[in-house]
Amino acid sequence: MSHPQVGIESTQQEDRLFAPPPEFCAKAWIQSREQYDRMYRESIDRPEEFWGKIASELKWFKTWDRVLEWKLPDAKWFVGGKTNISYNCLDAQIDAGRGDKTAILWEGEPMAQGTPPEVRHISYKQLREDVCRLANGLRKLGVKRGDRVTIYMPMVPEAAVAMLACARLGAAHSVIFGGFSSQAIVDRVEDAESSIVITADGGFRRGQVVALKNNVDEALIKTSRVKTVVVLKRTGQPINMTAGRDVWWNDVIAGQPATCDAEQMDAEDLLFVLYTSGSTGKPKGIIHTTGGYMVGTYLTSRYVFDLHDSDVFWCTADVGWITGHSYVVYGPLSNGATTVMYEGAPNYPDFSRFWSIIERHKITTFYTAPTAIRAFMRAGREFVDEHDLSSLRLLGSVGEPINPEAWIWYQQVIGHSRCPIVDTWWQTETGSIMITPLPGVTPTKPGSATLPFFGIDPAVVDRDGVEQPANAGGLLVVRKPWPAMLRGIFRDQDRYFRQYWTDVRGFYFTGDGARRDQDGYFWIMGRVDDVLNVAGHRLGTAEIESALVSHDAVAEAAVVGMPHEMKGQGVAAFVTLRSGFRPSEALKKELLEAVVKQIGAIARPDQIRFTDALPKTRSGKIMRRLLKELASGGEIRGDTTTLEDMNVIARLSTADEG
Ligand code: WT7
Repeated sequence: MSHPQVGIESTQQEDRLFAPPPEFCAKAWIQSREQYDRMYRESIDRPEEFWGKIASELKWFKTWDRVLEWKLPDAKWFVGGKTNISYNCLDAQIDAGRGDKTAILWEGEPMAQGTPPEVRHISYKQLREDVCRLANGLRKLGVKRGDRVTIYMPMVPEAAVAMLACARLGAAHSVIFGGFSSQAIVDRVEDAESSIVITADGGFRRGQVVALKNNVDEALIKTSRVKTVVVLKRTGQPINMTAGRDVWWNDVIAGQPATCDAEQMDAEDLLFVLYTSGSTGKPKGIIHTTGGYMVGTYLTSRYVFDLHDSDVFWCTADVGWITGHSYVVYGPLSNGATTVMYEGAPNYPDFSRFWSIIERHKITTFYTAPTAIRAFMRAGREFVDEHDLSSLRLLGSVGEPINPEAWIWYQQVIGHSRCPIVDTWWQTETGSIMITPLPGVTPTKPGSATLPFFGIDPAVVDRDGVEQPANAGGLLVVRKPWPAMLRGIFRDQDRYFRQYWTDVRGFYFTGDGARRDQDGYFWIMGRVDDVLNVAGHRLGTAEIESALVSHDAVAEAAVVGMPHEMKGQGVAAFVTLRSGFRPSEALKKELLEAVVKQIGAIARPDQIRFTDALPKTRSGKIMRRLLKELASGGEIRGDTTTLEDMNVIARLSTADEG
């Protein structure tokens, strides 16, 4: 990749500031800016001391010899140390007296008229038993240290049990999101050289049954690598069981002892592979190792979410994403927290489902994605207002820049202006949260991920690595290694080096554009590959989108470049409306004016298209690449295996043009 020009122009004006509520600060782990500044300085000036201290809060079978060995692009953390993350998430919590505390609080999707949904409370003791039985059963099936186990499951507790069982045995897991099709399974199983798949007969999603086992069967026609398929019974739908290959989960665990020693893993042993599509081409198997990932997810969970024993923590991500790995499973459990898992869709049976879950389980901390927040805004606040959300004390956002309007709605309608919001910037590759407010410390500005977490040294630079002045847009890099960073791309270390370490020499390049304001706050401007170049001005997509979303009628907006004779690139905007609003020429004019007023004539869209929905990846990110092809008058080509709803494309192609 090369980005010949950087200097991205920033035009966003947002000066609202929200101080953390004093009641929150009074009980927070980190309470003052002075405390943050002191700890941050220490973490940057003496990282080995800082991270060594944090790591000793966890359990190690053998202490490390050196905290860090760094030779770009290879980092080794806690060298020589031996530990096990499953041991830290289970045994260490039971030893600390949390045996009877709920580890996983799960709610299933189905909700027949008037009857409450299925709910399970799984204690730390019970969870350890479940994990040990499965680990023993997997061992009997031949799984051993160093193997890769593919997990393709619905959002049920057994998905977490399977991950923890692999970690206990020292086998790496490769979780594939249950919404992916059979081809995704083929590619990932092949790349990971995985000979065992753990799946379920099916899962419930938006009132439908997802045929997981069928997808696996279809995939295994195209690859002969897989020898064993473990099948959990969840829906009870009829499925085919292939003799000699397929075994029921219940038969695997039957008669297995409820204890199983955790393997003593080297800190740098592979913990998992997680495939991410990147913007183009073949999926990359991002690899994370044991010790550093454990320390990074442990500390960020504790401080960013201010986790206390009384918290009920709900991260809505699927375990198929890094957010699910780090903040549904490993981070909360290594802190002894209660982590909530919900099986189904946010709008099943209707848009009040999330709020009823929060009310029913008295959830204190809620972490979700801007795409979800915008969908709730669009549906209307009446779904929220019928529920008691007074248990909430903290809200989080992750996955995309959150438009200031969505931020304010989240803060007022969900948080009742009582709860701090942590807008957390990070990536599959970074493993843990990197740029974020600390909820008891950082005054927040809607739309900014604010300041670096401890030990993280991000900067906004030009191509030569020179730091940009305040408010000038540039490339977001990280200048120092951190514990949970990726260690590479599975079986492709060249690609790892090229992809992340060559754009800006000496630094990790995130692929994102950003600016840092006069207070040192980071504002993420979107992927650099999406940046527009309009008449020689480089504009980030996020800012124009925010200007559109600030109009009352707009639920969501996606901006992409299109060829333009005069300007080189023109601006095309795809817009979805909130309920109660209809497309019209008058509305189009108002939207154009809103952009001109907030940003300037340079960003005035050349085209506004109204549409019912935007094409999204399964993790909710807008697929600008597809929109770009549409806006250029082209047809949709290229890889769409990560697309959420193929119909969206069909509808967009015929959408109103302006
Ligand atoms: C990309 C990483 C990390 C969890 C989920 C996504 C964008 C993520 C934010 C945020 C602005 C954000 C970036 C980043 N992103 N969080 N708070 N503000 N942008 O993981 O799929 O690896 O995507 O998501 O562009 O590079 P991912």
